[in-house]
Amino acid sequence: MKIKLFTSKEKNIKNALEIVLVKKLSHLSKKEQGILKTLNFSNNNKNILLVEINKYYILCDSLKKESVKIILSDAIKKLKTQGFIKLIVSLCSPKKELELSSLIEGFVLGNYSFDKYKSKKREEKITVYIDLKNSKKQRTVLEKEFKESLIICKNVNFVRDLNNTTAEDYTPKSMSEDAQKIAKEHNLICKIYGETDLEKMQMHVMLAVGRASRHESQLIHLHYVPREKSLGKMVLVGKGLTYDSGGLSLKPTSGMLTMKRDKTGGVTVLGIMSALRELNYPYEVHGIIGAVENMIGGNAFKPGDVLYAKNKLSIEVRNTDAEGRLVLADCLSYAQEQIKDIDCLINIATLTGACKIALGVYTTGVMAHNKSLKNKMQKASSRSGELIGTLPFNEFLEKLIKSGLADISNAGSSPAGGAITAALFLDKFIKKRNKNKWLHLDMAGPAYSEVPWAYHSYGASGSGLRLILNFIKHFKKQ
Ligand code: BES
Ligand code: ZN
Ligand code: ZN
Repeated sequence: MKIKLFTSKEKNIKNALEIVLVKKLSHLSKKEQGILKTLNFSNNNKNILLVEINKYYILCDSLKKESVKIILSDAIKKLKTQGFIKLIVSLCSPKKELELSSLIEGFVLGNYSFDKYKSKKREEKITVYIDLKNSKKQRTVLEKEFKESLIICKNVNFVRDLNNTTAEDYTPKSMSEDAQKIAKEHNLICKIYGETDLEKMQMHVMLAVGRASRHESQLIHLHYVPREKSLGKMVLVGKGLTYDSGGLSLKPTSGMLTMKRDKTGGVTVLGIMSALRELNYPYEVHGIIGAVENMIGGNAFKPGDVLYAKNKLSIEVRNTDAEGRLVLADCLSYAQEQIKDIDCLINIATLTGACKIALGVYTTGVMAHNKSLKNKMQKASSRSGELIGTLPFNEFLEKLIKSGLADISNAGSSPAGGAITAALFLDKFIKKRNKNKWLHLDMAGPAYSEVPWAYHSYGASGSGLRLILNFIKHFKKQ
């Protein structure tokens, strides 16, 4: 799909179908009102296509940002199946100037589909023209917004592609190769560590999780340094489980089926790192990914084992399916040993089924000690349209991860509050100086769905990228 800006005052796009977003019938001309009334345009009949005059009218309950995205996502899906190849939509409806990024996200994210495994590939011929007529904003400002939004959408779709790729085709090595490609393309520093390096770095917990896999575990460290002066230092740590079978605490078939999604945190970090140079955000950003596959076998780590983490804590493995927190534990220690003066440390993971139960499948769970950081994430949520819900820590839940055998247990003694106990486990690996800089995002819910929702099609949603980039963009050193 191509998407272009134009002004109908200056240019005429021939043979294009115009999408008209109607909040109130009275906003239209008398003639249009008459036609639409006779065609019974109403809440029960919200979409009317008038081929004779090349217009597609959509009655909209709301023209808020998220509603616009969903409306345009539905529209493009419908219109392309009907063979339209040129579409026009106006940035300004009669009473309201819409946000350019909402139009772009609606079209570009809504038009996504994943056909890597389909024998019939999609031919993409559509061009969308956005009419800037009557905009109160300067053309240069709009063009900047346009560029930024396209970069973000391109990377959301990139993350979706990676996450939709099967675990057979996308291994920890694939992730480290992608990291190297991204680094080359966008002038980032990239370090990759294989299992021999992980041994040397005492990352035995991460190694244990990947031990039964035929794919070598990879620790990936990407580093973006802005061209201009940096306003702060952000560190992103992603759970990159290319597959989570549950290990010897094996998942049932239904739970395992879509566990290629367990790399969401990792691929989201890849997508963010790949966007930063083009976006030119003025923060130094580190992206660290633990890319591992959790499998079974004679050499698998076992329930009942005690593992020694990089920060020297001993961990009783009470469930090998609680592997994400184990990988993150060592990656968080690595990050904090390597990087000094961190302003914000965010880990991103599909960590617990409990988070899905707590917040529903559309919402990312946010946990942190620091209220102001949570507020900043809430603002990023409102601006980006990605839903978040904060879950509170408490001292009573902390008791659930006590171990009789080791310093700490990797699974809560009760499933209740499982998203929070997982975060409290991670907290044991956050150094004192970083406690107030740390945010944990549990994306088990929105990462992937076999039922399309909003402007997300079947499979990976790419959630997390817009939220975190928005957070970084507006982050100001505290
Ligand atoms: N990868 C899963 C969490 C998950 C579940 C992600 C559903 C996406 C959708 C994670 O590794 C896991 O299995 N966690 C366990 C923890 C439990 C054993 C303490 C869970 O949530 O059941
Ligand atoms: Zn698991
Ligand atoms: Zn997992």
